[in-house]
Amino acid sequence: NLNLILVFILAYLLGSFPTGVVIGKIFFAEDIRKYGSGNIGTTNSFRVFGPLAGSFVLIIDVLKGTLATNLPRLLQISGPKYLLLICGCLAILGHTFSIFLKFKGGKAVATSAGLFLGYDLKFFSICALIFLPLVFITSYVSLSSLIAVVLIFITTFFFHDLFLEIIVGCIMIILFNRHRSNINRLIHHQENIIPFGLWYWY
Ligand code: G3P
Repeated sequence: NLNLILVFILAYLLGSFPTGVVIGKIFFAEDIRKYGSGNIGTTNSFRVFGPLAGSFVLIIDVLKGTLATNLPRLLQISGPKYLLLICGCLAILGHTFSIFLKFKGGKAVATSAGLFLGYDLKFFSICALIFLPLVFITSYVSLSSLIAVVLIFITTFFFHDLFLEIIVGCIMIILFNRHRSNINRLIHHQENIIPFGLWYWY
């Protein structure tokens, strides 16, 4: 089905939009990949460009996932519900292996949140309730993302949605793979702490 293939390509392209790089170049004339952790995502945008730019990157990167997940609905492509998950996952792959960045990219956290938001509001709310307290307690976004994705994967078993389990399993693998440098820094007590939260104040 040609329409379906076009929707998949569109979802990937949406995810590929490198928000952090674009914001950095337009508003700060800097390449975010040269600063901080070198990542193009929300955390590094906060770190390098401040809260306003960071919030903007967060919103756009989440929306990329939400919009891609809902492309089949918006374009009235009928099919099973897991089509939405495939489209969201393609946006995540676009974000992490962006065609605009020679197939490099971000760490998949915000765009995954966007997929959850676009797929099921209740599931998204639970994910947020898992992730946000972790950030507040640990003061490490990377560590919180990794712990959260494992807990979120376990949570999927209560949703009786096999495809959601599979997709979140894939997201978990992608997240651990993309956070290899963070894991290394965490082990060696060199990870960037965020100036916020209990561990930081302690
Ligand atoms: O936003 C991704 C986060 O988990 C880690 O980002 O820049 O600290 O490597 P960063």
